[in-house]
Amino acid sequence: MKRIRLPSSNPVVTNDVVPPLPLSRRQLLAGAGAIALLRSMPAWAGDAPDALFSFKAVPLSEQADTVVVPSGYRWRVMAAWGDRLDGSGAGMPGDASHSATQQAALFGMHHDGCALFTEPGTPDRGLWVTNHEYLDDGLLHRDGAASWSAEKVAKAQAAVGVSVCHVKTRAEGGWQVAPGPLARRITATTPCSVSGPGAGHALLKTAADPAGQRVLGTFANCAMGVTPWGTYLTCEENFDRYFFKGEKPNREEARIGLDDKALFRWHDHDPRFDAGQHPNEFNRFGWVVEIDPHQADVAPVKRTALGRFKHEGATVTLARDGRVVVYSGDDQRGEYVYKFVSRDRYDPRLKVARSHWGRLLDEGTLFVARLADDGSGEWLPLVWGENRLTPENGFADQATVLIHARSAADTAGATPMDRPEWIAVHPVNGEVYVALTNNSERGKKMAINAANRRPENAMGHLLRIRENAGDAGATRFGWDVFAEAGDPMAERAEHRGDLKGDWFGSPDGLWFDPRGILWTQTDVASDKLGKGPYARMTNNMMFACDPRNGVFRRFLIGPKGCEITGIAISPDLRTLFINIQHPGESPTERLDPAKPMAVSSWPDPAFGRPRSASICIWREDGAEVGV
Ligand code: FEO
Ligand code: CA
Ligand code: CA
Ligand code: CA
Repeated sequence: MKRIRLPSSNPVVTNDVVPPLPLSRRQLLAGAGAIALLRSMPAWAGDAPDALFSFKAVPLSEQADTVVVPSGYRWRVMAAWGDRLDGSGAGMPGDASHSATQQAALFGMHHDGCALFTEPGTPDRGLWVTNHEYLDDGLLHRDGAASWSAEKVAKAQAAVGVSVCHVKTRAEGGWQVAPGPLARRITATTPCSVSGPGAGHALLKTAADPAGQRVLGTFANCAMGVTPWGTYLTCEENFDRYFFKGEKPNREEARIGLDDKALFRWHDHDPRFDAGQHPNEFNRFGWVVEIDPHQADVAPVKRTALGRFKHEGATVTLARDGRVVVYSGDDQRGEYVYKFVSRDRYDPRLKVARSHWGRLLDEGTLFVARLADDGSGEWLPLVWGENRLTPENGFADQATVLIHARSAADTAGATPMDRPEWIAVHPVNGEVYVALTNNSERGKKMAINAANRRPENAMGHLLRIRENAGDAGATRFGWDVFAEAGDPMAERAEHRGDLKGDWFGSPDGLWFDPRGILWTQTDVASDKLGKGPYARMTNNMMFACDPRNGVFRRFLIGPKGCEITGIAISPDLRTLFINIQHPGESPTERLDPAKPMAVSSWPDPAFGRPRSASICIWREDGAEVGV
């Protein structure tokens, strides 16, 4: 058995032998279109590996209203909010006076998770899929939130969801959007089907859908996942903000955030968002939704076996025996880390339709993580009848366990975490890295524990999980804190952290490229940027990390008021794609429509308002990005 050795100089790795690459992981890479990517493996096999990257860090001082990349790199906007899906430029005016119907045919707002799908043999073109996480009504409408109307709600519902478009390489470097038949928008009104144990359950039935199997739309789409069979998983995160309940919410509604605030006022003009009138509509969101980018006529599928909570992302890998494993964080203060393990196995040798493999996500076990203070951990099965998930405790059946996954995890005894965001799985050794962005309530509303050990955790940390025997299908694991974020020059000791290399706080996006570079993206809230422990950080940023030595290096600084999120790489590793979300966000609830460019005018001051966008990044010399 070939063993891969980690460098003995690595101060953070306690066991120097990691399990061999399972065949299935190689197949996973190939299935995602990332072929020939194992050639950098010798760096892992030798005793003195080269550094994974050699770009010159972007200086902290270069915080401006633009995208700053290392010298020798170029970037361009590929697809901004309001652009047409065929790459022919903006389809909205700079004053945002476009209609709901027009918005439904254009890229949405607030880009988040994303992925590039290419086929073997055509690595120079493919499909680009990006989430549109939420809205700023101050920016979306010419008069902002000064008034509400059915047209404005329809426009908002058309500006969220997911975009699919064709993309191809450019002779000048990077990629561009191109015309093609599969380009489409998936919005808050697109019909979706429901599968798994929740499909047809009483809690999912509504007057408009008495069968409980067909939901209109997906929204609050935060991060994502890519399956080995070539589909996209979009994750419904802060869906509660779109619903309104005038009277007191019941226990389960309150547990996931239903209240009478309803920032987006959808219920004023679309009664399905009034949870007093339509209580079960609320249960039809908070899921992982599978989209087949290559089949425009197949409805997205809400996969209920993966549980209902505020899914940040859905990171897919394979267990040693080929079962499909999906890691997912629930991003709220004190919420949990979950993983789903399929009952059946993925076998790429079987030539069957992609829709066949999607069913793997319908049968299996949802687990939630309990992290003991001694560095050990256990995946607790959220299975009806086990772990006190019984009728006496409010769980009538397995579907109820999944629909009320947060309560089920409370009952089972999961460990409350500091806002689990993206989860990244190392492409070779299977280590699992979890971004815990921050948690102002730690030590106040919830107790300190060893995995979340800083009171009022303002800067966040990265947790590392090592599954037993390196098998993603294991039910036990070990964990350690990989890095505590912070500014080493911060006034207060608890804000300094222990980062090696360049510093940051509030990690959110976290993703391994096929070479094993851990890309880390920050989302410091706009009311925190430039203040207190973030005094030296006025813009959000992206870093490369070599997990073997734990050193972070600043690769990119975003424009004013944006977060950096979403990441993908081309099959030849020469183009990196990221999303710039909400440039120009103000610390207030919404932008003032009279001054949309008060904070930022990125990417084009002449356009009239800032716009979220997918961008691509490449090297002037055409070599691989990052190295
Ligand atoms: Fe949508 Fe937790 O970031
Ligand atoms: Ca996020
Ligand atoms: Ca975020
Ligand atoms: Ca944000």
